[in-house]
Amino acid sequence: MVQEAAVDLALLSPVLCRMLATIPGEISEREGLGLAWLASRVPAGQCIVEIGSYRGRSTCYLAEGALHSGRDEAVQVFAIDLWGEAPWPQYADPANYEAFCRAICALRLRDVVTSMLADSCAVGAAWAGPPIGLLFVDADHTFEAVIGDYHAWERHISPGGLLALHDAADPQWGVRRAIDDVIMPTGLWDPGPFITGDLATMVRRADP
Ligand SMILES: C[S@@+](CC[C@H](N)C(=O)[O-])C[C@H]1O[C@@H](n2cnc3c(N)ncnc32)[C@H](O)[C@@H]1O
Repeated sequence: MVQEAAVDLALLSPVLCRMLATIPGEISEREGLGLAWLASRVPAGQCIVEIGSYRGRSTCYLAEGALHSGRDEAVQVFAIDLWGEAPWPQYADPANYEAFCRAICALRLRDVVTSMLADSCAVGAAWAGPPIGLLFVDADHTFEAVIGDYHAWERHISPGGLLALHDAADPQWGVRRAIDDVIMPTGLWDPGPFITGDLATMVRRADP
Protein backbone atom coordinates (compact mmCIF):
# COMPACT_ATOMS: atom_id res chain seq x y z
CA MET A 1 0.00 0.00 0.00
CA VAL A 2 2.84 2.39 0.81
CA GLN A 3 4.21 2.00 -2.71
CA GLU A 4 0.96 3.01 -4.37
CA ALA A 5 0.58 6.39 -2.64
CA ALA A 6 2.55 9.51 -3.56
CA VAL A 7 4.71 10.79 -0.71
CA ASP A 8 2.83 13.64 0.97
CA LEU A 9 5.43 16.23 1.97
CA ALA A 10 2.68 18.65 3.06
CA LEU A 11 1.42 16.45 5.90
CA LEU A 12 2.58 18.83 8.65
CA SER A 13 1.50 22.44 9.13
CA PRO A 14 3.84 25.25 8.00
CA VAL A 15 4.31 26.38 11.62
CA LEU A 16 5.34 22.89 12.71
CA CYS A 17 7.64 22.57 9.71
CA ARG A 18 9.40 25.78 10.72
CA MET A 19 9.92 24.45 14.26
CA LEU A 20 11.24 21.10 13.02
CA ALA A 21 13.62 22.80 10.62
CA THR A 22 15.38 24.54 13.54
CA ILE A 23 16.40 21.24 15.22
CA PRO A 24 20.08 20.57 14.50
CA GLY A 25 20.82 17.33 12.73
CA GLU A 26 22.03 15.49 9.69
CA ILE A 27 18.96 14.96 7.53
CA SER A 28 17.54 17.48 5.07
CA GLU A 29 14.11 19.02 5.52
CA ARG A 30 12.79 17.01 2.58
CA GLU A 31 14.07 13.80 4.13
CA GLY A 32 12.48 14.75 7.44
CA LEU A 33 9.13 15.39 5.79
CA GLY A 34 9.45 12.11 3.92
CA LEU A 35 10.17 10.28 7.18
CA ALA A 36 7.13 11.96 8.75
CA TRP A 37 4.96 10.67 5.93
CA LEU A 38 6.37 7.15 6.22
CA ALA A 39 5.73 7.29 9.99
CA SER A 40 2.13 8.40 9.43
CA ARG A 41 1.50 5.19 7.49
CA VAL A 42 2.56 2.76 10.24
CA PRO A 43 -0.48 0.73 11.32
CA ALA A 44 -1.81 0.66 14.88
CA GLY A 45 -0.24 -2.10 16.97
CA GLN A 46 3.16 -1.62 15.32
CA CYS A 47 5.96 0.80 16.17
CA ILE A 48 8.74 2.89 14.70
CA VAL A 49 12.38 2.25 15.56
CA GLU A 50 15.12 4.77 14.83
CA ILE A 51 18.77 3.78 15.05
CA GLY A 52 20.88 6.93 15.35
CA SER A 53 18.98 9.86 16.89
CA TYR A 54 21.82 12.30 17.65
CA ARG A 55 20.16 15.63 18.55
CA GLY A 56 16.63 14.49 17.75
CA ARG A 57 16.02 16.00 14.34
CA SER A 58 14.87 12.82 12.56
CA THR A 59 13.22 11.58 15.77
CA CYS A 60 10.95 14.62 15.89
CA TYR A 61 9.93 14.27 12.23
CA LEU A 62 9.13 10.59 12.84
CA ALA A 63 7.12 11.36 15.98
CA GLU A 64 5.19 14.19 14.33
CA GLY A 65 4.36 11.85 11.46
CA ALA A 66 3.13 9.25 13.95
CA LEU A 67 0.91 11.92 15.52
CA HIS A 68 -0.48 12.91 12.11
CA SER A 69 -1.64 9.44 11.12
CA GLY A 70 -5.33 10.29 11.50
CA ARG A 71 -5.69 7.67 14.24
CA ASP A 72 -6.70 8.41 17.83
CA GLU A 73 -3.49 7.02 19.26
CA ALA A 74 -0.02 7.55 17.80
CA VAL A 75 2.30 4.58 17.40
CA GLN A 76 5.43 4.77 19.56
CA VAL A 77 8.85 5.85 18.33
CA PHE A 78 11.83 4.08 19.94
CA ALA A 79 14.92 6.26 19.51
CA ILE A 80 18.19 4.35 19.98
CA ASP A 81 21.60 5.99 20.27
CA LEU A 82 24.88 5.54 22.12
CA TRP A 83 24.98 9.28 22.86
CA GLY A 84 27.71 9.86 25.51
CA GLU A 85 29.06 6.33 24.99
CA ALA A 86 29.66 6.71 21.26
CA PRO A 87 33.27 6.07 20.21
CA TRP A 88 33.35 9.22 18.05
CA PRO A 89 34.02 12.56 19.85
CA GLN A 90 31.47 14.44 17.72
CA TYR A 91 28.72 12.05 18.77
CA ALA A 92 29.90 11.46 22.36
CA ASP A 93 29.43 15.11 23.33
CA PRO A 94 26.94 15.21 26.27
CA ALA A 95 25.38 18.26 24.64
CA ASN A 96 23.84 15.94 22.02
CA TYR A 97 21.61 14.08 24.46
CA GLU A 98 20.70 17.36 26.17
CA ALA A 99 19.71 18.79 22.79
CA PHE A 100 17.73 15.62 22.01
CA CYS A 101 15.77 15.95 25.27
CA ARG A 102 15.18 19.67 24.68
CA ALA A 103 13.77 19.03 21.21
CA ILE A 104 11.45 16.26 22.44
CA CYS A 105 10.20 18.45 25.29
CA ALA A 106 9.82 21.59 23.16
CA LEU A 107 7.58 19.74 20.72
CA ARG A 108 5.74 17.90 23.54
CA LEU A 109 6.66 14.51 22.17
CA ARG A 110 7.50 12.78 25.45
CA ASP A 111 4.45 10.50 25.26
CA VAL A 112 5.34 9.34 21.77
CA VAL A 113 9.13 8.94 21.97
CA THR A 114 11.03 6.43 24.12
CA SER A 115 14.80 7.02 24.13
CA MET A 116 17.15 4.07 24.59
CA LEU A 117 20.81 4.71 25.33
CA ALA A 118 22.30 1.45 24.06
CA ASP A 119 24.07 -0.26 21.21
CA SER A 120 21.63 -0.83 18.37
CA CYS A 121 22.64 -4.45 17.70
CA ALA A 122 22.25 -5.39 21.37
CA VAL A 123 18.76 -3.86 21.48
CA GLY A 124 17.78 -5.56 18.23
CA ALA A 125 19.00 -8.96 19.42
CA ALA A 126 16.85 -8.72 22.55
CA TRP A 127 13.88 -6.84 21.03
CA ALA A 128 10.57 -7.74 22.70
CA GLY A 129 8.67 -4.60 21.67
CA PRO A 130 5.81 -4.35 19.16
CA PRO A 131 6.35 -5.48 15.57
CA ILE A 132 8.07 -2.76 13.58
CA GLY A 133 6.24 -0.87 10.85
CA LEU A 134 9.17 1.46 10.10
CA LEU A 135 12.86 0.98 10.86
CA PHE A 136 14.99 4.05 10.15
CA VAL A 137 18.74 3.37 10.17
CA ASP A 138 21.10 6.37 10.46
CA ALA A 139 23.92 5.21 12.73
CA ASP A 140 27.39 3.86 11.89
CA HIS A 141 27.56 3.94 8.07
CA THR A 142 30.35 1.43 7.52
CA PHE A 143 29.33 -1.61 5.48
CA GLU A 144 29.93 -3.95 8.43
CA ALA A 145 27.87 -1.83 10.83
CA VAL A 146 24.95 -1.43 8.42
CA ILE A 147 24.87 -5.18 7.88
CA GLY A 148 25.10 -5.72 11.64
CA ASP A 149 22.09 -3.47 12.20
CA TYR A 150 20.20 -5.13 9.36
CA HIS A 151 20.75 -8.65 10.72
CA ALA A 152 19.87 -7.60 14.28
CA TRP A 153 16.59 -5.95 13.27
CA GLU A 154 15.19 -7.24 9.99
CA ARG A 155 13.20 -10.12 11.51
CA HIS A 156 11.24 -7.66 13.66
CA ILE A 157 9.90 -5.72 10.64
CA SER A 158 6.33 -6.69 9.74
CA PRO A 159 5.25 -7.80 6.26
CA GLY A 160 4.42 -4.54 4.47
CA GLY A 161 6.71 -2.70 6.91
CA LEU A 162 9.31 -0.19 5.83
CA LEU A 163 13.09 -0.09 6.05
CA ALA A 164 14.71 3.31 5.44
CA LEU A 165 18.47 3.90 5.37
CA HIS A 166 20.11 7.32 5.30
CA ASP A 167 23.24 8.29 3.34
CA ALA A 168 22.56 5.65 0.72
CA ALA A 169 23.96 7.68 -2.17
CA ASP A 170 27.28 8.84 -0.74
CA PRO A 171 30.03 6.49 -2.00
CA GLN A 172 32.23 7.21 1.04
CA TRP A 173 29.85 5.10 3.16
CA GLY A 174 28.93 1.41 3.03
CA VAL A 175 25.17 1.93 2.98
CA ARG A 176 24.67 1.53 -0.78
CA ARG A 177 26.88 -1.56 -0.89
CA ALA A 178 24.91 -3.10 1.98
CA ILE A 179 21.65 -2.49 0.11
CA ASP A 180 22.90 -3.76 -3.26
CA ASP A 181 25.03 -6.71 -2.10
CA VAL A 182 23.17 -7.98 0.96
CA ILE A 183 19.71 -6.53 1.62
CA MET A 184 18.01 -6.58 -1.81
CA PRO A 185 19.46 -9.99 -2.83
CA THR A 186 17.60 -11.58 0.11
CA GLY A 187 14.42 -11.26 -1.96
CA LEU A 188 12.59 -10.00 1.13
CA TRP A 189 12.20 -6.40 -0.11
CA ASP A 190 10.58 -4.35 -2.83
CA PRO A 191 11.79 -0.82 -3.54
CA GLY A 192 9.84 1.70 -1.45
CA PRO A 193 8.61 5.21 -2.19
CA PHE A 194 11.15 7.73 -3.49
CA ILE A 195 11.94 10.60 -1.11
CA THR A 196 15.52 11.58 -2.02
CA GLY A 197 18.35 9.63 -3.59
CA ASP A 198 20.13 9.64 -0.24
CA LEU A 199 17.22 8.11 1.72
CA ALA A 200 16.72 4.57 0.46
CA THR A 201 13.38 2.98 1.31
CA MET A 202 12.28 -0.64 1.01
CA VAL A 203 9.00 -2.42 1.75
CA ARG A 204 8.99 -5.90 3.23
CA ARG A 205 7.24 -8.36 0.94
CA ALA A 206 4.22 -10.09 2.36
CA ASP A 207 5.02 -13.30 0.46
CA PRO A 208 8.75 -13.51 -0.28
C1 LIG B 1 24.42 10.48 11.61
S1 LIG B 1 24.07 10.59 13.32
C2 LIG B 1 22.30 10.51 13.34
C3 LIG B 1 21.66 11.74 12.80
C4 LIG B 1 20.19 11.88 13.11
N1 LIG B 1 19.40 10.81 12.54
C5 LIG B 1 19.65 13.23 12.67
O1 LIG B 1 18.53 13.33 12.20
O2 LIG B 1 20.37 14.22 12.80
C6 LIG B 1 24.54 8.99 13.85
C7 LIG B 1 24.21 8.64 15.29
O3 LIG B 1 24.26 7.22 15.41
C8 LIG B 1 24.74 6.88 16.69
N2 LIG B 1 25.29 5.51 16.64
C9 LIG B 1 26.33 5.06 15.90
N3 LIG B 1 26.51 3.74 16.08
C10 LIG B 1 25.55 3.35 16.94
C11 LIG B 1 25.19 2.10 17.53
N4 LIG B 1 25.88 0.98 17.25
N5 LIG B 1 24.15 2.04 18.37
C12 LIG B 1 23.43 3.17 18.67
N6 LIG B 1 23.72 4.38 18.13
C13 LIG B 1 24.76 4.48 17.29
C14 LIG B 1 25.79 7.96 16.98
O4 LIG B 1 26.02 8.08 18.38
C15 LIG B 1 25.17 9.20 16.34
O5 LIG B 1 24.48 9.98 17.29
